[in-house]
Amino acid sequence: MTQLSSTTVKDALESTAPIDAIQVQGWVRTRRDSKDFSFIEMNDGSCLRNLQIIARNSLPNYAALQRMTTGASISVRGTLVPSQGKGQTWEVVADKIDIVGTADDSYPLQKKGHTPEFLREIAHLRPRSNLFGCVFRVRSRLAFAIHKFFQERGFVYVHTPIITGSDCEGAGELFRVTTLDPKAGPRRLDGSIDYEQDFFARCTYLTVSGQLEAEAFACALSKVYTFGPTFRAENSNTSRHASEFWMIEPEMAFCALNGNMDLAEELVKYLIVDVREHCPDEMELFAKFVDKELLARLDFVVDRPFQRINYSDAVDLLKRSGAKFEFPIDYGLNLQSEHERWLTEKHFQCPVTVFNFPKEIKPFYMRLNDDGKTVAAIDLLVPGIGEIVGGSQREERIDVLEENMRRHKMDLADYKWYLDLRRYGTVPHSGFGLGFERMLMFITGVPNIRDVIPFARTPGSAEF
Ligand code: 4AD
Ligand code: MG
Repeated sequence: MTQLSSTTVKDALESTAPIDAIQVQGWVRTRRDSKDFSFIEMNDGSCLRNLQIIARNSLPNYAALQRMTTGASISVRGTLVPSQGKGQTWEVVADKIDIVGTADDSYPLQKKGHTPEFLREIAHLRPRSNLFGCVFRVRSRLAFAIHKFFQERGFVYVHTPIITGSDCEGAGELFRVTTLDPKAGPRRLDGSIDYEQDFFARCTYLTVSGQLEAEAFACALSKVYTFGPTFRAENSNTSRHASEFWMIEPEMAFCALNGNMDLAEELVKYLIVDVREHCPDEMELFAKFVDKELLARLDFVVDRPFQRINYSDAVDLLKRSGAKFEFPIDYGLNLQSEHERWLTEKHFQCPVTVFNFPKEIKPFYMRLNDDGKTVAAIDLLVPGIGEIVGGSQREERIDVLEENMRRHKMDLADYKWYLDLRRYGTVPHSGFGLGFERMLMFITGVPNIRDVIPFARTPGSAEF
């Protein structure tokens, strides 16, 4: 459109000197007229703040500019000058404003505040709102900080497959991947679909976790991590569950449970510190409009060691608490969200790592403890959310692992490659999964997972 390369609003507002010839581009947030001018607040998503554009009535298209409404896109050339108005350092006095795309009164994001529920229905437009612009800039920074954390510590990033044949968590919450026609597909003698004739000549699914493949790489490259999308067909309609979410999964050879807990704690603290440092305006907005206690809570989390407690002591605490829970709690039962939140919010009032769970309620790959009853598992719980990390030391002894798999009614032939890792140079190793969206909820205070995912997939909902 023009030779002059354009400046972001962020860079313009952070300028240290006036600029004679500047080009800025973005979307109109508001516009108001005074006698000889029109004041345009323009945002380009590079930061929370808007840039004020002064349109003088001498501009040749001034009449068209006066008809321009919220949501229109513009390209502006002019000079960056110190602002007269309060609340901003710089503004642009325009020499030329091109209306690139108009918007009319039906534009749903007029100035007034909208509920998150309404904004979810316009997920394609909501990143233009202040709140969602902030959420998605922080999401980007958080992803970067995760790579930074691991790369600084010598971890190798492994791209584990999205299509797999294994059910890592053994919960059967898998989305099937097939090219067969469910009506006309090839059948076995018993009438069931013959997946051996399917695209991959076997049953395949979208992965629920990259862990098993990460283990193979940890048993070669020592310290690795995966960071990618994972899929769960679990029918939980809660504010913390999505059907498609991202997970960070480090895996470390020659590492036992304590090292694993240490890394999870270090990671969570590092991510908070990084985002607080690099997204101060966004964090301020969350503290103002989403959760007043956010910054104090995050500071508190960064400053103190996390509480560690074994599962049976946690159950004792819960039973003796006198608190009224919807779900029962007893040794051998899973901790429900309400139990997790009681531990971290009411009792310890800080993040809590619960470890050594009964083997019956955990997946096949977790290492059996010497008591024969518990496995070396960890769940890290945080206030406001509950479980944010799940992990374990892995069973490295082939005989014990095979026994676990039989107990879980698994077909050992399907996991030959996984068992090979114990056959050839086995080592104690550990890892965990951090839910990326849950971490984002924790850092931003945004209470619903649907509002930290660009286009959320949840049961019954995959629009956009
Ligand atoms: O506890 P989970 O199921 O653990 C695993 O998948 C292990 N294979 C990880 C490992 O050891 N490498 O999931 C790990 C984390 C949970 O703590 C939670 O934060 C997140 O992933 N998570 C979900 N986040 C959003 N929506 C869902 N449906 C989630 N399920 C798990
Ligand atoms: Mg878990």
